Amino acid sequence: MTFPAPVLRVEHHAQPALGVGEDRPRLSWHLDAAPAGYRQGAYEIAWRTTAPDGSGQVRTLEDATAVVDGDAQVLVPWPGVPLAPRARAEVRVRTRDDGAGGGADDAGWGPWSEPAVVERGLTAADWTAELVGPGYDEGPVETRRAPLLRRGFDVPGSEVRSARLHLTAHGLVEAELNGRRVGRDELVPGWTPYDDRLRVYAYDITDLVRPGANAVGTWLADGWFRGRYGFEGGHRDLYGTHVGVLAQLEVVTDAGTVVVGGDAAWRSAPGPLTRASLYDGETFDARLLPAGWSEPGFDDAAWSPVVVHPLDRSVLAAPDGPPVRCTGELAPVSVTRAPGPDGEDGWLVDFGQNHSGRPRLTVPAAPTGTVVRVRHAEVLQDGTLYTRTLREAAATDEVVLDGAGLTWEPRFTVHGYRYAHVSGWPGADAPAIVSRVLHSDMARTGWFASSDPALDRLHENVVWSLRSNFVDIPTDCPQRDERLGWTGDIQAFGPTAAFLYDVHGMLADWLRSLSAEQRRFGGTVPVYVPWIPGGTYWQPTQDIAGWGDAATLVPEALHRDSADVGLLERQYASAVTWVDKVAGLAGPDRLWDTGMQLGDWLDPTAPPEDPLRAQTDPHLVATAYLARSARAVADMARTLGRADDAARYGDLAEEVAAAYRKRYVDSGDAMHDTQTAHALSIVFDLLDGDDARRRAGERLAALVRDGGNTVGTGFAGTPLVTDALSATGRLDAAYALLLSHASPSWLAMVDLGATTIWERWDSMLTDGTVNPGEMTSFNHYALGSVADWLHRMVAGLAPLEPGYRTFRVAPRPGGGLTHASARHVTPYGTAEVAWRVEDRADGAELVVRCVVPVGTTAEVDVPGAPRSVVGHGESVTRVPWPPLA
Ligand code: BGC
Repeated sequence: MTFPAPVLRVEHHAQPALGVGEDRPRLSWHLDAAPAGYRQGAYEIAWRTTAPDGSGQVRTLEDATAVVDGDAQVLVPWPGVPLAPRARAEVRVRTRDDGAGGGADDAGWGPWSEPAVVERGLTAADWTAELVGPGYDEGPVETRRAPLLRRGFDVPGSEVRSARLHLTAHGLVEAELNGRRVGRDELVPGWTPYDDRLRVYAYDITDLVRPGANAVGTWLADGWFRGRYGFEGGHRDLYGTHVGVLAQLEVVTDAGTVVVGGDAAWRSAPGPLTRASLYDGETFDARLLPAGWSEPGFDDAAWSPVVVHPLDRSVLAAPDGPPVRCTGELAPVSVTRAPGPDGEDGWLVDFGQNHSGRPRLTVPAAPTGTVVRVRHAEVLQDGTLYTRTLREAAATDEVVLDGAGLTWEPRFTVHGYRYAHVSGWPGADAPAIVSRVLHSDMARTGWFASSDPALDRLHENVVWSLRSNFVDIPTDCPQRDERLGWTGDIQAFGPTAAFLYDVHGMLADWLRSLSAEQRRFGGTVPVYVPWIPGGTYWQPTQDIAGWGDAATLVPEALHRDSADVGLLERQYASAVTWVDKVAGLAGPDRLWDTGMQLGDWLDPTAPPEDPLRAQTDPHLVATAYLARSARAVADMARTLGRADDAARYGDLAEEVAAAYRKRYVDSGDAMHDTQTAHALSIVFDLLDGDDARRRAGERLAALVRDGGNTVGTGFAGTPLVTDALSATGRLDAAYALLLSHASPSWLAMVDLGATTIWERWDSMLTDGTVNPGEMTSFNHYALGSVADWLHRMVAGLAPLEPGYRTFRVAPRPGGGLTHASARHVTPYGTAEVAWRVEDRADGAELVVRCVVPVGTTAEVDVPGAPRSVVGHGESVTRVPWPPLA
């Protein structure tokens, strides 16, 4: 009996992994199938490491194999010597079956995996390039054009063996080589606290470089570095007053290695982008594009020299996560003649789906100077784009024709929208336009489906809100003049995100930024990361429950999904510092009852003008979160083998929970009698004993029922309320709430035509008009955190051990659903649960099918059936339905 080759991965990187930061990258693999009885008893890794030696030769540094006994297959240690900068390893793995399955050969070994490639990037010492920027006077901000930079260079020899471009910028950059675009990454280098960490991206440019004359050119824009960003009109020059590119090309030829980096030989000139802003959009004037500017032989004599800007090379770092890319295109579902928001003549385009992206137009030839303008919005009112909710983000792209037709897409902007309005379109035909969906290029890992189309649409909306808001950092919204890494939003949504997409690299990267900002602000986790000035309201030293707790709960959610202990180790100091900070604020009475809190932000009773005014006492929320985070740190400490810390933070959690009970539960406080308060008490395990839990569950169910099955929760309560009900025996009430169409509720949003999750329950009022409040986005993921419960409880797929090494198959059918399923790509492969109620002549039956990945076991817990433990493969459980009492 044979079994298939493993599928090998390196860290959380996509393949091929170029320019990585890890010198000992961890390896993981899974088998898509194996015979019953297969059990990995050992693995063998074969790796060959090479590096260019400078003379044009590629030298082999290591060529070895190693056999390791045991069943580890997730994030196992690097077997070889640490990878030097530029070293490239090709790695393969095979496994030995020590079970009854039998291997491919006599000793039990199976086939080798396809090779995975990992190549280390540069370290600070490897950089010879300088950061170069435009050397001319850019003029006033209002008329400043985005610069182009270029340099010609010669490649000796007769053969290019391999070539790499290492690229980053102060600002945003897109590179071209010999007239062709390098890679397809967008918004490089993304957004980090640049003074602390500036990401470098590596590209294989072997096919773009040739012996002889070559040229490199870069488009450069303000981006987050110095573009207008933030509240109340925003700030400019957040990280500096200049822009610049740091590029180092390393070309290995038969005549040796050539290194071409930023230096005084580069030339600069204002480019054809007369406006380029993340919020406001972009203007491309085709008349100003110098033909052939990134090709060799271009005459740049009239261009200006460049200025070299100082750069601390120690901040340069490899990204943990994927870059932003276009991940798909949306064609319009309708294009009709209609006036724009200012009454301008033109075309209204409906893409049918709210999302983050930008348009691509194919414009016919028209007289030079013709301006085609595209504006964007999430919703319509009175038949035209409704732009008030964008606040001060203009979200307007323009192309100015030089007479010729062209296909054009803006480069350095992104919008959140479903609708676009096109004006100035030449000719009588409808505009040729598509929308390019843009976000971090993560792999999809989670799916859900059920018998209720409205519920499926809700889940689809959650997926789209995730995609729209994972744009390099986890943002609150993609459309208005905000788009910040709000910590509370991802704290609420982290577990859902970790199921649906491989967010591990991206969020691990963002957590580095969180730690850096936290260090900068004395232990406070700012309410958004990276930190920028916060207008009238926000200071970097506000300690806010549910937001700062991203320091503990995001790593916890990631570890639960990935079993990445290294991440916990790295974030441990940040998590501990946050809990210590808050414990200090709470003081000896263990109640965090001072200071400004966001509490149960945006619960449905919060009036349009006061999103803070919730039913639940914000300090109750704060104290509950302190207990929760202290427990999270205790768990982390246990995983990391820090017994003293585990005991200390465990005790702290108990003391806080006791203080919470005394203050809010035993006192009969009315502010405790809300959906969110009971949900926190139950899910954060703050009550004393089963009886108290059961009572809280009953009271919560009564509140839900008395409210006509409408939600009463905001950002704090929403991720918990269905869990609180199902955990206390009130699954019926959880389903009643989940499937309610009464407003406010999840499905009421769907009924009003939502294609993403809204920021507030009533972002659109039931009469179809837009909520008059400032906080009105149609694309915020926090209220979509209920999808986590859909996966775990409705479909019934939930991890028991980190990384799903063991997991539960425990569907809890209800609410009249007749089938539901969930699938998740775990580190061990794809796990699946699908149940269906089947009608038969002799009564209905519940049929539960599950797929268990190789290397894992599932605890099958189906109502009415004895519990069982199953190994890898597919299994089916059938029970009479409804279960016999
Ligand atoms: C953001 C939120 C965030 C909140 C906190 C809003 O402006 O969009 O999602 O968490 O502020 O106050």
